[in-house]
Amino acid sequence: MSALVPPSLDKNRLPRHIAIIMDGNGRWAKDRGEDRLFGHYHGVESVRDIVEAAAELGIKYLTLYAFSTENWDRPAEEVSGLMQLLVTTIRKEVPTLNKNNIRLHVIGDLSMLPDFAQNELKEALEMTAPNTGLNLVMALSYSGRWELVEAVRNIARAVEEKKLNWTQITEQTLQDHLSTHAFPDPELMIRTSGEYRISNFLLFQLAYAELYFTEVCWPDFRKQNLYDALLDYQQRERRFGKISEQL
Ligand code: IPE
Ligand code: IPE
Ligand code: MG
Repeated sequence: MSALVPPSLDKNRLPRHIAIIMDGNGRWAKDRGEDRLFGHYHGVESVRDIVEAAAELGIKYLTLYAFSTENWDRPAEEVSGLMQLLVTTIRKEVPTLNKNNIRLHVIGDLSMLPDFAQNELKEALEMTAPNTGLNLVMALSYSGRWELVEAVRNIARAVEEKKLNWTQITEQTLQDHLSTHAFPDPELMIRTSGEYRISNFLLFQLAYAELYFTEVCWPDFRKQNLYDALLDYQQRERRFGKISEQL
C-alpha cells in the first residue's frame, strides 16, 4: 500500500535538497538471522521508494550516502557484494530514472572503484544527463574529509599556477572546489538506524542543515517515514545565527 502525502505537509516549504545516511542494513539482516548482504539487497527497495517519493514531491536534489571511504575497510566479501549490487542496480534503474526525468550524479573517489563499476557508472551518468527533474546524487566511495583535502589540493595548485591569488580565497572558493559545487547545501539531513553521528558525510555542506534521526533501519524506511521527517523539518525554526524576531 502506497503512503499518501499528509495534507498537513506544506508543499511550498519543502527542502530543495535532502541528504540521507542510509544506515542499518547489516543489523536489519542480522535481526532476521540473515547475512549482511541480505540487508543491502532490501535496502535497494527503500532507495526506489524514496527516490520516487522525492520525485513526486518535486524535490530538486536528493543525496544518498551509499558507500563511504571508510567502508572499503569492511570484510572483502561484503565490499565486493555491495559494490556489485550498487553498480548493477544503478545501471538497471536507468530506464526508470529516464521515465521519471531523474538525473544521476555521483560524488566520491571513483578511482577506487573497480573498472567495470567505473564504466557502468559513466554510462548511467551519460544516459540520464539530459534529464531536468530530480537530481539524484549518489555518494560512493565518498567522505567529507577526502573531499575537503581534494578541494585544498586543487586550490593550492591554482595558486601555484598563478590562476588564483591566496588573498582571493573565500568561502565561495572552497565551495566551488567541492564535488557538490553544482548543488545547493542540504536543508535536511536524515540518518536511519538510531545512530547519532555524521560519519564523514558532507562535512562542509551540512553546516546549517536540520538533522533528523530515526530508529528505523534503512530497509524499513519508506515514503511515510520520509513524510514524517519532512513534517518534523517544517516545525523547525531555522535562525542561521540570528534571533527569532529577526526572521
Ligand atoms: C548501511 O548499512 C549501508 C552501508 C554502510 C554501505 P550498514 O551496512 O552500515 O548496516 P549496519 O549499520 O552495520 O547495521
Ligand atoms: C555511514 O554508515 C556510511 C553509509 C551509510 C554509506 P556506517 O555504518 O559506515 O557508519 P559508522 O561506521 O556506523 O559510523
Ligand atoms: Mg552502519
